[in-house]
Amino acid sequence: MTSGEKTLKCLFLFLLLKVALTKVSFPDQEKNPKYWRDQAQASLKTALYLQDHLNTNVAKNIILFIGDGMSVATVTAARILKGQLNGKPGEETQLEMDKFPYMALSKTYNTDAQVPDSAGTATAYLCGVKANAGTVGVSAAALQGQCYTMRGNEVDSILNWAKQAGKSAGLVTTTRVTHATPSAAYAHSVDRSWYSDNDMPPEAIQQGCKDIAWQLVKNIPDIEVILGGGRKYMYPRNTPDVEYPWDWHANGTRLDGLNLTKIWMENKPRGQVARYVWNRNQLLALDPRKVDYVLGLFEPADMKFEQERKRSTDPSLSEMVQVAIQILQKNPKGFFLLVEAGRIDHGHHASMASQALHETVELDKTIALASRATREDDTLTVVTADHSHVFTFGGYTPRGNPMLGLVPGLSDIDFKPFTSIVYGNGPGFELVDGGRQNISFIDVFDMNYQAQSAVPLQSETHSGEDVAIFAKGPLAHLLHGVHEQNYIPHVMAYAACIGQNKDHCKPDAASNVSRPFTFNSTLLYILSVLSWL
Ligand SMILES: *[C@@H]1O[C@H](CO)[C@@H](O)[C@H](O)[C@H]1NC(C)=O
Ligand SMILES: *[C@@H]1O[C@H](CO)[C@@H](O)[C@H](O)[C@H]1NC(C)=O
Ligand SMILES: *[C@@H]1O[C@H](CO)[C@@H](O)[C@H](O)[C@H]1NC(C)=O
Ligand SMILES: *[C@@H]1O[C@H](CO)[C@@H](O)[C@H](O)[C@H]1NC(C)=O
Ligand SMILES: *[C@@H]1O[C@H](CO)[C@@H](O)[C@H](O)[C@H]1NC(C)=O
Ligand SMILES: [Zn+2]
Repeated sequence: MTSGEKTLKCLFLFLLLKVALTKVSFPDQEKNPKYWRDQAQASLKTALYLQDHLNTNVAKNIILFIGDGMSVATVTAARILKGQLNGKPGEETQLEMDKFPYMALSKTYNTDAQVPDSAGTATAYLCGVKANAGTVGVSAAALQGQCYTMRGNEVDSILNWAKQAGKSAGLVTTTRVTHATPSAAYAHSVDRSWYSDNDMPPEAIQQGCKDIAWQLVKNIPDIEVILGGGRKYMYPRNTPDVEYPWDWHANGTRLDGLNLTKIWMENKPRGQVARYVWNRNQLLALDPRKVDYVLGLFEPADMKFEQERKRSTDPSLSEMVQVAIQILQKNPKGFFLLVEAGRIDHGHHASMASQALHETVELDKTIALASRATREDDTLTVVTADHSHVFTFGGYTPRGNPMLGLVPGLSDIDFKPFTSIVYGNGPGFELVDGGRQNISFIDVFDMNYQAQSAVPLQSETHSGEDVAIFAKGPLAHLLHGVHEQNYIPHVMAYAACIGQNKDHCKPDAASNVSRPFTFNSTLLYILSVLSWL
């Protein structure tokens, strides 16, 4: 290319950008400095108020929301998408999680992995111990896939601690209930993929290891609420699925011939009402006042993406959580609830950003619902992710640029259009005539459109940077810096007076709860003396 041609193309690009930028519109009020000053002053007032009004109550309830793979970039993009779905430019929108007063960063690496997986991370934020990738509910002394390394290395989760304290417990996920995230709450398995005994190597069965579905029913039989997917791990091999009897991939898979939903029903305390449901209508027809236990399995494996759900019989995440909270709230001692938006991760792995972001918007809607159903003075709510993804968006897009859309202008190297959203690696890599695909006539808003990536991979990967922790409620301010991920359940347990660290909870010690965090003059004096020495 001659330099004349280059100049011409640059000029072309510049003009395109200029056209795009002059079309930008944003709310008129933003032109007024008073608008920004008032907004900042209101935030300042809130910050000053919070400083003097630490919530040092004991947390009766704990709700932990996990966006699987919900990186900071995913949160920002979901915020903009949510705003745009409401007809706004988007950037100024507040997610429900954005309103939480405290936040921190979580270091997500596994003991054996710089870029972690969902199993080792779930062990960290549920059991309080970092672990190897691919393992759930076991310490790092247990090796992935090696049954013989498990014995004696089991670690308990905050769900156990809550149960031991007489609280109710719930697990709600959009994946199979035996998936990595929920399973670390109740199972101990050196392999996250041992969903049923059919998924295990024979020597692991001989050595006495148990599959995760079996553990769901047997380890802690009195979990009040279990909602998600995963029917095919519960029934004997060749049992046709109730919803898809023609689909043999949905068949039951168990080799031991057990009917686990039957066992689940039978091992409930006498006189208690237990219900098994497998579709939305059955779930919504339950009277939470009259149900003590519910097991809902809405798909043979993972549930549908939110955008595809309306063509199925699946409930939404928010519908499941609504029922869960109504049942759990009946316990005067409170509850622990784990809610996972598990398919943000699956959308990203497929590079289908639209799916990942709509899952995140549904998670945020669910957080809002839970906020309305509980009170900040007795409920500690934590929202975080297990790990990040190699997902980002950029390209000097103007204000209000469609979140899933093209950057105005062309690449100044290959002169083709590009989307703002891109992945570092993944399946969206497609070479056409030796170059990047020209997406001019591709519908980039299609829910299954795969955004482009630099490195071709069948499945886009997780990434290793920190993820955010949002917190509100009793002692939420203990999540305040850059923390190891396994710190999270220690805070939740401390706030709720459950688990290993309860000395501050004796009735006459209630006023001591906040003391270690008060940076008063005595403490400052001691510190200054120490530094002087
Ligand atoms: C599924 O179950 C049906 C009915 O029992 C059986 O005929 C079929 O072989 C099974 N298919 C698979 C893949 O398990
Ligand atoms: C499992 O047990 C339940 C409850 O007894 C029963 O309704 C269901 O049909 C059983 N399913 C299979 C596949 O045996
Ligand atoms: C991309 O496709 C559009 C529409 O067919 C075409 O006008 C444009 O020239 C193509 N760009 C390149 C660099 O091939
Ligand atoms: C409260 O804290 C003080 C000072 O740290 C301690 O001496 C006291 O024993 C605590 N009270 C209780 C009941 O734990
Ligand atoms: C400072 O904290 C210590 C220990 O928590 C407490 O005993 C003391 O009364 C506090 N002093 C002031 C001035 O608040
Ligand atoms: Zn993943």
